[in-house]
Amino acid sequence: MTVSPSSEDMTKDLQNADEAAALQGQNCSAHINAAVRLLHAGQLVSFPTETVYGLGGDAGNPAAIQRIFQLKGRPVNHPLIVHLADAGHLNEWAREIPPVAWKLAERFWPGPLTLILKKAAGVVPLVTGGQDTIGLRVPAHPLALKLLRAFGGGLAAPSANRFGCVSPTRAEHVRAEFADHLALVLDGGCCRVGVESTILSLVTEAPVILRPGGISASQLAEVLGCRPRSQDNPSSDIRVPGLLTSHYATLTPLEVVNRERLWLRAKQLRAQGLRMAFMTLENPPLERYQAQRNHIIEMPNEPQAYARALYHTMRSLDRGGYDLLLVEAPPQTEAWSAVNNRLLRAAATGTVTGDIANDREHL
Ligand code: TXA
Ligand code: MG
Repeated sequence: MTVSPSSEDMTKDLQNADEAAALQGQNCSAHINAAVRLLHAGQLVSFPTETVYGLGGDAGNPAAIQRIFQLKGRPVNHPLIVHLADAGHLNEWAREIPPVAWKLAERFWPGPLTLILKKAAGVVPLVTGGQDTIGLRVPAHPLALKLLRAFGGGLAAPSANRFGCVSPTRAEHVRAEFADHLALVLDGGCCRVGVESTILSLVTEAPVILRPGGISASQLAEVLGCRPRSQDNPSSDIRVPGLLTSHYATLTPLEVVNRERLWLRAKQLRAQGLRMAFMTLENPPLERYQAQRNHIIEMPNEPQAYARALYHTMRSLDRGGYDLLLVEAPPQTEAWSAVNNRLLRAAATGTVTGDIANDREHL
């Protein structure tokens, strides 16, 4: 017998944002219209992107921007990314745009790449945290693009989570975090990329990756003609919350350990009476862990699939009442750089054991 899942269940399980949008069918236009009305009235709307859900407000309205900072609990000197419907709007938000920015936009937009450029004269100072630069991107999610086109302006949107916490990759994460404080959450299913966009600064002498994400350094190099530098430790004049030591953090302490040391570390912690959950890669020596009645989540061995599952898994484990989340360190290769970066940030409140802490090459 086949049982048709409810449309809510299906939306929850969809990995592909296009399918999710199609599933929502006719209802979609009504939701978009409602969202546009709210945004024009200075209210906030959460919308899906291919990376994570955003907490959107009219980037041209200082009161709306203020609301974003308040709701997130984010210091006002930390800039927001402005989302655009297409690269044709770049000139309205940025000035002295270098030719390479257009090339990158053509290649990677819509997509998980944020460009840092010099801001245009009329940009609301609050959006850029008082800086002379602005972060801009065109998201690759059909609902986000529909919303941006219908809205007609730029949408300032940080990830729709409280400052320093884990970003949301499903509409239910946003609802759980902001409950009644948000008039509307557009549901576009699970985010396809699952971690935030790559941030590339084009205002420095040579391009610098400020945050690794869905577009890799090698992909960028194909357009830039040289490999961009990675900046993990921001200089004092660039404020990037994602680069603070602790970020994307679970409430439960999280520790990242190499596979060879995982079992030993687990034994030590067990001896201290700690209740642990594990995030391992596929095929861990299960019998050993299960004998200890630990909760084990096997994460995908493929970096994109891992990234897609990461925040939902962190959020789920965080609700499990564990003393510690023990994470098996993924490989230290470029393909894993965004995942390793987020795990390191999440672990920053706890301890990081093993070589991962020393390998900053690929962050
Ligand atoms: O994938 C994403 O980028 C998601 C989705 C919603 O688009 N957005 C996102 O926003 O991650 P948020 O605010 O959580 O992180 C944006 C990062 C922050 O670390 C911020 O400091 C940095 O971008 N940023 C924004 N404008 C900047 C600027 N002018 N210079 C340097 N960093 C900037
Ligand atoms: Mg964020």
